[in-house]
Amino acid sequence: MDKLSILANGPLEGRIPISGAKNSALKLMAASLLCEEPLVLTSTPNLADTRFMEKLLQSLGVVVEWPKGEALCRMHAENISSTIAPYDLVRKMRATFNVLGPLLARVGHATVSLPGGCAIGARPVDLHLKAFEAMGADIVIEEGYVKAAALRGLKGAHIVFPFVSVGATEHAMLAAVLADGETILENAACEPEIGDLAICLNACGAKVSGYGTPTIRIQGVAKLTGARHDVISDRIEAGTFAIAAAATGGNVLLEGAREEDLGALIDCLLRAGVTVEVEPKGLRIKRDPSVPLKAVDVVTAPHPGFPTDLQAQFMALMCIADGTSTIRENIFENRFMHAPELSRLGANIQVRANEAVVRGVSRLKGAQVMATDLRASVSLVIAALVAEGETVVNRIYHLDRGFERLEEKLGRCGAKITRQGDSA
Ligand code: EPZ
Repeated sequence: MDKLSILANGPLEGRIPISGAKNSALKLMAASLLCEEPLVLTSTPNLADTRFMEKLLQSLGVVVEWPKGEALCRMHAENISSTIAPYDLVRKMRATFNVLGPLLARVGHATVSLPGGCAIGARPVDLHLKAFEAMGADIVIEEGYVKAAALRGLKGAHIVFPFVSVGATEHAMLAAVLADGETILENAACEPEIGDLAICLNACGAKVSGYGTPTIRIQGVAKLTGARHDVISDRIEAGTFAIAAAATGGNVLLEGAREEDLGALIDCLLRAGVTVEVEPKGLRIKRDPSVPLKAVDVVTAPHPGFPTDLQAQFMALMCIADGTSTIRENIFENRFMHAPELSRLGANIQVRANEAVVRGVSRLKGAQVMATDLRASVSLVIAALVAEGETVVNRIYHLDRGFERLEEKLGRCGAKITRQGDSA
């Protein structure tokens, strides 16, 4: 199994191009099932997760043209030949569950494996299923599969989510665009990826309004055509490199990073003593390495709050700050697996329930650590960039699921990272 060897090599300096957002691309790819004409995505990130989605779409009859390493992905769902998403593909990547809504809306029925829990929490899909039921679908769960049917089509509905869910908001949108009549989603998620999905769906002929606010209105249409759409830049990748630049006391231009998507992180970086400048090409992150970082408290929350997907990376930064910071995780029930691994590098972290107290230390020291999920893995990479000596991050397949050319992007800014193992 692949691992990364990382040697601290001073401040990161240079430019990093930010890729298209994984979490947007996955839902946009699922949206191709709704379109009778080709949906062409540009800036599609080449990741293990997006390639899983490609495989699933192909198994459903979508013709996908996406050469290896290319960012342009063309999907044509002229004929849907299967409506079954098997356990093996959904188990490997939860977002494949999001084909259920589009299949239900376009074909009238679908059988999709339940995604099951994962390392960061139980992650049920009850809100997704309740939304489809509200739109008139019959749902049965049998032998680990969700069997959904709406043979006379879905109907517009008024859905009030009891709490904010990114996945349920997106999934309900994906089904409602072809429903008969108007659907209103209240307490909807406001993440930038929701807006990206709405813009793409509208380019295909859908009528979605109110996205970016907690009330989304969708006027159903009879069919969707296709479109060409540029995937929004990955705010989590940008935020991760911003934190890496801050940790090393570097100076990095994040090309394509959008200030408007990263407000909560930028606010925390500024309070920690990091400089953030908006430039025509993106965001520049700078820190004077001779001035210690200040400790900052963080509470994760739905957008525009501090993203849970940057919590682990920010914790790595706080490990070397001057003072004590408290980090509260409010989205997932088990998202502190990076804390014991960061402690192996010399960090001082105490976790109690959903709160971690991080007492900054003057130095971290390299060690063997284990990656447990995508964002936890990259928090270890950030800590390794400033830890004395060599750090070996094991089980890095998680990183390949969500970060495009990580070693190359950091390496060009001076990081010493080498991959060891089968695909090195
Ligand atoms: C998306 O997950 C992202 N994944 C996650 O990124 C991200 O952490 C999360 O949103 C929050 O921003 C993708 O987009 C593929 P939720 P999602 O529904 O949609 C509970 C990464 O590292 N819930 O907003 O699954 C749920 O368990 C990943 O890239 C229910 O109880 O997140 C969680 O506690 C990890 N029932 C909370 O809601 C439901 O039906 C918010 O989850 C749905 C969710």
